[in-house]
Amino acid sequence: MGKHICPRNKKSKRNMALKFITAAEAASLVKHGDNIGLSGFTPAGTPKAVTQEIAKIAEAEHTKGNPYQIGIFTGASTGDSCDGILARNKAIRYRAPYTTNPDFRKAVNNGEIAYNDIHLSQMAQELRYGFMGKVNLAILEACEVTPDGKVYLTAAGGISPTIARMADKVVIELNAAHSRNSIGLHDVYEPLDPPYRREIPIFKPSDRIGTTYVQVDPTKIVGIVEVNKPDEARAFTAPDPITDKIGQNVADFLAADMRRGIIPPTFLPLQSGVGNIANAVLGALGRDTTIPAFEMYTEVLQDAVVDLIRAGRVKFGSTCSLTVTNDCLNGIYSDIEFFRDKLVLRPSEISNSPEVARRLGIISINTAIEADIYGNINSTHIGGTKMMNGIGGSGDFTRNAYISIFTCPSVAKEGKISAIVPMVSHHDHTEHDVNIIVTEQGVADLRGKSPMQRAQTIIENCAHPDYKNLLWDYLKLSSKGQTCHNVAASLAMHDTLAKKGDMRLTDWAEYVK
Ligand code: COA
Repeated sequence: MGKHICPRNKKSKRNMALKFITAAEAASLVKHGDNIGLSGFTPAGTPKAVTQEIAKIAEAEHTKGNPYQIGIFTGASTGDSCDGILARNKAIRYRAPYTTNPDFRKAVNNGEIAYNDIHLSQMAQELRYGFMGKVNLAILEACEVTPDGKVYLTAAGGISPTIARMADKVVIELNAAHSRNSIGLHDVYEPLDPPYRREIPIFKPSDRIGTTYVQVDPTKIVGIVEVNKPDEARAFTAPDPITDKIGQNVADFLAADMRRGIIPPTFLPLQSGVGNIANAVLGALGRDTTIPAFEMYTEVLQDAVVDLIRAGRVKFGSTCSLTVTNDCLNGIYSDIEFFRDKLVLRPSEISNSPEVARRLGIISINTAIEADIYGNINSTHIGGTKMMNGIGGSGDFTRNAYISIFTCPSVAKEGKISAIVPMVSHHDHTEHDVNIIVTEQGVADLRGKSPMQRAQTIIENCAHPDYKNLLWDYLKLSSKGQTCHNVAASLAMHDTLAKKGDMRLTDWAEYVK
């Protein structure tokens, strides 16, 4: 690694080229109508100071009766000090991609924000292709920056290389809450665009193909903002018997597939989503010693994976972000010599690259809001219209996986909602891409099956007993065809939920035409 000139050490004479500014001064560069690009992926590695000052400007301008709204480009979700505070201050005109913030969600579902929910692997390239307009200011969170423009990122790769290159101006949030020990964890690589794009030369999860820093034109760095704020890590609720059962079902299914020789004896790299079910799945896989120690090629690593790395059950983790609790992150930083050859952080278009996922033969495990009897998945919309979070990386991995798995509890809201329905109210992943559906009830293996065979296995193995007969009855009243539906009745369970607060309709006849 090259020699670093440490701006944290203000006595360094060589540091003269870099100018320290306040977060408020940095925010004042952002004008109404501008677009800002942010480092980070989930709250990990996301700037936390300048966006709060932008919110104050929005509030002041709105009080004066002036318009003030901006566009936001990120790697994935952010923390409350970005999406939350900016949404509450009505400062967001446009945003892409994924978000999890409840205030942002409310504003989107009220029609106040233009939200472009795209596959995370596509975000950087769609910016480069010019689909979303220019980047006026990029804000990168770093643990180190050198006067010649080498920016060492913190806990996530995100879209940093692209926004840093495209932006007119760059601000660095130099965050002392992140140890400089994260230097070296990153592998920064930005592909060329068509017609010059070449293969991404990753042939195993641990391959490194880039640099440990983002190279920024130093003349574009308008200032460095000193920050000392930890990542706004999300806390997950404790596992419950349902998520534990889903986790166990996934682990048992994968162990059986390995015994049958479908999964090679060395196992395959795993991609796993974020949340309680993902934690339960990883916990169960870690405990099942018939499955050998495995690798991850994924977009987020949670605490559960870090524990499995320490226990020797996960051999290597390639990820875009360390979406872990701050205790866990500090544990990694203080034990960096142990983790250095077991972790790599990549930009999202590499961590989520469809090309690499297909080549490595990953096993993808993501969570559904609802699945239909033919295997179509809704990951994003409640009741077909209200945005929950977004598609995230689930599509990047699902479409290209060796085996694609979706998990969910068979019912939601104390049983008033069935996660297995005749037809999904919104489509994110089609029946053509989904191999396995797992609920606490069991596992539906859809591989090699026709639509009718899939419907039978999903209803039999995954539906909650309260809804099984309802779904069997739906299948009987459906017309003949390749994919049998009674179109008029296909959303009757959703309609009944909207009218009566419960999906358990009593008579299909009401809907059948
Ligand atoms: N209809 C209505 N509401 C439903 C529902 C359904 N079929 N299924 C779940 N819900 C509700 C839950 O009741 C819960 O509501 P609450 O917030 O009021 O408690 C909420 O949706 C979230 O469900 P939960 O069971 O807590 O699941 P989760 O936190 O595991 O999130 C997803 C599930 C699908 C929303 C989440 O995994 C996601 O956003 N996925 C898309 C992105 C993705 O897959 N990324 C992959 C890589 S990280």
